[in-house]
Formats: sequence, C-alpha cells, structure tokens
Amino acid sequence: MFSWLKSPSNFLEVDLHSHLIPGIDDGVDSWDESLNLLSQLSELGYKKIITTPHIIQNYYPNTSDQIREGVTELNRLLAESDISIQVEAGAEYYLDDHFAKQVETKENLLSFGNGYILIETPFMNKPLFLEETVFNLQANGLKPILAHPERYTYLQNNMELVQNLTSLGVFMQVNISSLTGYYSKEAKQLAKHLIDTNQIHFLASDIHNQKHLNEVKSATKSKLFQRCRQLRLLNSTL
Ligand SMILES: [Fe+2]
Repeated sequence: MFSWLKSPSNFLEVDLHSHLIPGIDDGVDSWDESLNLLSQLSELGYKKIITTPHIIQNYYPNTSDQIREGVTELNRLLAESDISIQVEAGAEYYLDDHFAKQVETKENLLSFGNGYILIETPFMNKPLFLEETVFNLQANGLKPILAHPERYTYLQNNMELVQNLTSLGVFMQVNISSLTGYYSKEAKQLAKHLIDTNQIHFLASDIHNQKHLNEVKSATKSKLFQRCRQLRLLNSTL
C-alpha cells in the first residue's frame, strides 16, 4: 500500500531522524516498541535508520557511548527477529551552552554519513550563538543539519534568516509529517516554502512512537510529499 520506495528513484531509503532507543529520551518506551516500528519502516522500504536520541544537558544528558550501546543492542535484536533493516547511531543535539562548549573543545560528537551532525534549537527563540556554532562545527569538518526548521516559530516569519542559514551551508531537514500540517499550519507553510525555493536537503520521519509513524504513512499520500520526489534530496547518500 505504501510503496513509495519501490519506485525507481528510491529517494528515501535512509532515514536520519528518530527516537528509537528506549528509556533515554521522549521516544519509544521499550525494545519491543522499537522493533515493531523498525519492522514497519522496513516494510515501507527503508534500508537504513540513523536513530538520533535527544542530547539536552538539562533533560536528556545522553552520551555518545550510551547511544552507541543502544544501537548495538537494537541491531542484535533486529538480527534475532529477522527484521531486515540496519540501524546507525546519531544524535539530535540541542543548541545549549553545553553543546557549544563541546563544539569549541572539539569533543567527539556523533556524526553520520560524510560528517553530518543533526542539531535542534528552541522552538520560539533563535539562540544568539547559532551562526557561531555553525561556523565552529564547520571549522571542525562537520556539516550541520538543522532538524525540522519549519517547526521553529522564529523562522516561520523570517525568510531572510532561512536564506542566511542555507547560505552559511546549513542543511535543512524537513519532517515528513509537516507536509500535511500535522504540527501546525505555519510549519506546513514553511515546509512548502523550503520546497518551492529549493532549500530542503533531507526529509525525515522524526518518529517517537506508533502515532508518529501513522502520521508519516498518511503524509506520504500528500501532494507535497509527491512533489518531493522531484527534488534532489540527499537521504540516499547517507
Ligand atoms: Fe527529534
């Protein structure tokens, strides 16, 4: 039924944003829930899932090692259950002081693909040190991907800032469910603007649970999702 990946362009065979390690953030609650979601993702046609638990110093102070251990366990359970999909470790780094310091001191951060790193910011306010952190990441040879830019209210009314960020080399990752307005009308509008102006680089699921996956499945039937097939998304390069 949902066979978008069976088309020749196989444009979404890799997902780069999800919360599938139980008990370390606001994602899945159990290994079973995780396996269940991964089995459905495999049926959809995904080959590889880069899972990205939150790292937020005051709420989810996860470490690279903890996430790597979780991913090792997940791959072991997947092999045991004969589910044919591969999981890799990433993280969704919240731009707080702790992260800015880690970048400055060139700490070992979880990146994926050819040096990509997923970052998020507060929803309402742009961090003052956003551009500086982007610059420092790039100076360390990393390529920042901004998670769901369409959901930040500070970007929804500021197309100039959106343009500035892409000009600085920030990669934009839109959530698939934003294409139907699941998060908000404004998020859908900005997602559409990013598509119209060719400022979208990745589409991702950002699933935390079954409800999110259901939303992703229904979003694949939307017009905007179908338009994304024509874009040169970078998912399959990961
Ligand atoms: Fe997320």
